[in-house]
Amino acid sequence: MSSARDRVEALREQIARHNEAYYALDAPTIPDADYDALLVELRELEGEYPELATDESVTRKVGTGSTTVFSEVTHAEPMLSLDNVFDVHELAAWAQRAAKGLGVPASTLEFAVEPKIDGLALSITYVDGALVQGATRGDGRVGEDVTENVRTIKNLPQQLRNGHRGRVEVRGEVFIAKADFLALNERQRELGAKEFANPRNAAAGSLRQKDPAVSRSRPLSFLGYQLVDLDGSLTFGSYFETISQLARWGFLTAHETVVVAGDVAMVERSDWFEEHRHNLTYEIDGVVIKLNDLTQRATLGFTSRAPRWAIARKLPPEERSTRLLAIEVSIGRTGRATPYAVLEPVVVAGSRVSMATLHNEDQVAEKDVRPGDLVIVRKAGDVIPEVVGAVSEPGRRRKSAWKFPATCPECGAPLVRVGEESDTYCVNPSCPAQLLQQIVHFASRGALDIEGLGESRVAQLLAEGLISDVADLFTLRVSDLSSLEGMGELSGSSLVAAISGAKVASLSRVLVGLGIRHVGPVAARELAVTFRHYRALADAPLEVLEGIDGVGPVIAASVYEYCREPENQERMARLFSLGLTLVEPVGAILEQTLAGRAVVVTGAVEGYSRDDAEEAIKARGGTSPGSVSKKTYCVVVGDAPGASKLTKATELGVAMIPATGFDELLRTGAWTTTLT
Ligand code: IVH
Repeated sequence: MSSARDRVEALREQIARHNEAYYALDAPTIPDADYDALLVELRELEGEYPELATDESVTRKVGTGSTTVFSEVTHAEPMLSLDNVFDVHELAAWAQRAAKGLGVPASTLEFAVEPKIDGLALSITYVDGALVQGATRGDGRVGEDVTENVRTIKNLPQQLRNGHRGRVEVRGEVFIAKADFLALNERQRELGAKEFANPRNAAAGSLRQKDPAVSRSRPLSFLGYQLVDLDGSLTFGSYFETISQLARWGFLTAHETVVVAGDVAMVERSDWFEEHRHNLTYEIDGVVIKLNDLTQRATLGFTSRAPRWAIARKLPPEERSTRLLAIEVSIGRTGRATPYAVLEPVVVAGSRVSMATLHNEDQVAEKDVRPGDLVIVRKAGDVIPEVVGAVSEPGRRRKSAWKFPATCPECGAPLVRVGEESDTYCVNPSCPAQLLQQIVHFASRGALDIEGLGESRVAQLLAEGLISDVADLFTLRVSDLSSLEGMGELSGSSLVAAISGAKVASLSRVLVGLGIRHVGPVAARELAVTFRHYRALADAPLEVLEGIDGVGPVIAASVYEYCREPENQERMARLFSLGLTLVEPVGAILEQTLAGRAVVVTGAVEGYSRDDAEEAIKARGGTSPGSVSKKTYCVVVGDAPGASKLTKATELGVAMIPATGFDELLRTGAWTTTLT
């Protein structure tokens, strides 16, 4: 008994510490699965020794209740948490308990099965249709007033569409979609700012900014899943009707939500999420199952912590441990030397991982990972593998701490770390690794978008001596290419055609493609809109560059220097003489609501020709491929759609949205209605 008491106390203390790290500091120190295991152990001990359980225990409370800079908001109704189950047996047992509580067989119950989005809970109050308040969950009873930041969330209705008289509270999750997270970190990298560990931390940090302008610059989204009618004027019979109302008001709701009949179908649908979780546009950490019938919900009620009518099925951890075989260094297009982990292959979040970035020298030191260590691997934003840290293995002798190499592994030139920067660079401008990456980048999607010019093809062209600079691409002839290994007449001529097609490009894409340090798509667009012509940009004095919105002194100096480097001047002159033609952006650049997203259009969309629809998607940063794959963001279904695309989308769990939702998709990057 006394050892149980000690263990309970130790667990409570650990959990409280992790709660603080997770909820208050947005900086969790252990994987979610490990946290859950602590909580389960504590709950079991409290069950076994009821005398050790107290109302104050962390198993009965939600969040932390920590202090903040925001003013307090007392929730009209407590914002409760959900109880968790970890496998299908526990899930089935929960359904049985609910059925028993209602005195009906579980096979007769209707369940809504939906994604458990890995974001943070938010409550938004509307009075007579207007957004008046946004509050975080806090300790469940009292949250933080984050209204001004909430107003910056782009997919959130400021006014309820179709209006509504009275007072309602919409609750849901604030999150950053996977694609947005990648773009955000890309931007952080460009700015030399710290990258975010994962979408949840990025969303939490972004929502709790003192300056709403910072929140506005972050790609936050909101998804609604609960309606609290503060006046009691709305009457719904089911959850499905409630979320349909949210969608009608203009909220994004989870289009994967399905209402199923009976516990067997419910478990099956929750398995679907496990299988498809990596195809969703947001990160999920589980599945939420809720009774659909609101009268049944009222009968079951709540425990002190959570409703009895809902449960969260936590999905298995997407963090794995594996052996770190070596730490190596790769050289990027700017010469940046990035250390990366060579791992014993392991499947994480649906794919095999054998390498993971370690970012820079400081990160390796901070994580203190050493070759030979057992390390934890996860995917940031469900996409980019990264090493979280080493697992302690008492009794095992570790190798000594890893040292950053002094010379470039590709060309032998010194690797240099300057001033305060955490990055290290290969300073040899003719380093072959840099050249390869520069050309690959020039041809990449975000730049000149030349199909068929990936890393291996560029490496081959360099090795054959056919190119030694980006401008040389414009000199390639079919006869140069058709005799290359793996290439024939046909692929040679399609590559030449693709290169030739890229000669007409926008200034912003060319600026991105040139790989000027710190200039990413956002800064490139600002520069292109301001100067319109390369000449004007190249001649601009430093002060003028510095004065442009979104272009700070770092970017300005980098552009200024780039344009004055004789080698770069020569390259530009060659590109222009070989036919590079800049088409100037017309009018304002559109908001990049679909940045990095693949939207497939099938069938006729009213008001758009096929080309118009494609252009509209591209103008917002997206792509519009001809076929559906795992990577497809959504499929827009017009009149007379292609059957194979629909089948494929259904098979892969890709969202299908009606053509009437196309404008909304372009405007917000999201949708409120889907076809099933
Ligand atoms: S319903 C009273 N539905 O998970 C029930 N929560 O672990 C309120 N979450 O606090 C929650 N997706 O922040 C619900 N589809 C979903 C959810 C969801 C994510 C979060 C939410 C909640 C936490 C509980």
